[in-house]
Amino acid sequence: MNNYVNLAYLFSVVLFIVGLKKLSSPKTARYGNVLASSAMLIAIVASLLHTEVISFTAIIIGIIVGGTIGAIAAVRVQMTGMPELVALFNGSGGFASTLVALSEYGQTSSDEYTMMAAITIGLSVLIGTVTLTGSVVAYGKLAGKVPTHPITYPFQNLANGVIFVAILALFYPICVATSPTWALCLLLVLSLVLGVALVIPIGGADMPVVISLLNSYSGLAACATGFVLENQLLITAGSLVGAAGIILTAMMCKAMNRSLGNVVFGAFGVADSTGTTEKKEGARTVRDYGIDDAVMVLEAASSVIIVPGYGLAVARAQHVTQELAQILENKGTTVKYAIHPVAGRMPGHMNVLLAEADVPYEQLLEMDEINPEFETTDVALILGANDVVNPAARSDKTSPIYGMPILDVDKAGTVIISKRSLATGFAGVDNELFYDDKTMMIFGDARKSLTELVEALRTGA
Ligand code: TAP
Repeated sequence: MNNYVNLAYLFSVVLFIVGLKKLSSPKTARYGNVLASSAMLIAIVASLLHTEVISFTAIIIGIIVGGTIGAIAAVRVQMTGMPELVALFNGSGGFASTLVALSEYGQTSSDEYTMMAAITIGLSVLIGTVTLTGSVVAYGKLAGKVPTHPITYPFQNLANGVIFVAILALFYPICVATSPTWALCLLLVLSLVLGVALVIPIGGADMPVVISLLNSYSGLAACATGFVLENQLLITAGSLVGAAGIILTAMMCKAMNRSLGNVVFGAFGVADSTGTTEKKEGARTVRDYGIDDAVMVLEAASSVIIVPGYGLAVARAQHVTQELAQILENKGTTVKYAIHPVAGRMPGHMNVLLAEADVPYEQLLEMDEINPEFETTDVALILGANDVVNPAARSDKTSPIYGMPILDVDKAGTVIISKRSLATGFAGVDNELFYDDKTMMIFGDARKSLTELVEALRTGA
């Protein structure tokens, strides 16, 4: 029987790899998801057929409880809540690995407790627990329950360093003692603290890197647990998640123009108090326009670039955005979408959102591709985006987002911004673009404003 199980594992691994490959393009992503989910189903069924399974009672209870929680969470979650849900899933995955490793430790006799077992159990506990508490803090920051600005205190990096050295030191008793239960308990506690300590100093603008990194950690924890259980499938699947997460982390670092060391140890993203809206607002003028003004500008435009941001997801305005684009195209206007790699709150957030509204993939252009086009474009229409179009990233060395590549919307002929107020974005940084002479602010919920705009363009009012 176990030979068939191993064959099923091999088949699952192949499906995981092909599924992952398909996820790299929006066109094939859905199919990739189906393949990877099928692979997981095959892997679970094969595991249940394993001859080492002695009782199904706990497994069935686990499937019912976990499956119910997962299904309710997935059905109930709003599109805007997806990043928080993903953060919690990462944390749960990491901690599940810790629990499995600890349970295996509980069943391992002193004869079976080899150096390899000791190291892999220790690593599972360390990485899985850091993933849990790090993900909970990331969830809090994404949900606005924990301040998004970096929380710093004196000697922070030193304190983190001391915890890390203490953790490394604990691996000595874990590896050489015959019954190192106390060391594993201490490792668990220190890892819980380390997860919180590593994520709280990271500022809003750098959260994309943290989220990808935690995703990678959850895979590495599963991989370590795979070694504990000597389960090849878990090792391979964990490595795939770990490697994909690391690649995503590197992409996010590139998108933010940050090194990983800078993000983790630099307490970047500190909201500069000199850059707040309140301080500068008095000296500058904001041009508040009506829908009619926007209609006039859009009717005269021969090219429009739409820039979606997190506010578009909050307003659930993707469908009406697509309707607007369609009307403009029917009038002969060229319409394109500019996608910033960290727009929204999770990697690929804007692509998923616009795909839901059937916006053709060819119209979605990455930042490097679209930036040279702004100069020759009549209108940049910014829908609920803020940090990803903030020129402070180019010019203000004191700004926490300084150095982050942005969409060059200020180079377009006219900039129309749809948002509810002059409030800052996730990074908490004031945006000079709102006060630019060529900027037209359309205040209000994006869906409401766009619906009015579509109506006015349709009726020619
Ligand atoms: P943000 O800078 O967060 O700005 C979103 C804007 O949307 C806000 O300023 C808000 O202004 C507006 N808004 C909210 N609800 C709205 C509504 N109903 N209608 C119209 N506007 C609305 O968004 P962004 O430009 O997409 O930048 C993303 C930020 O999130 C970056 O700092 C990025 O680093 C961070 N982040 C990204 C990720 C990933 S992986 N993408 C993960 C975590 C964090 P009002 O309140 O005035 O309306």
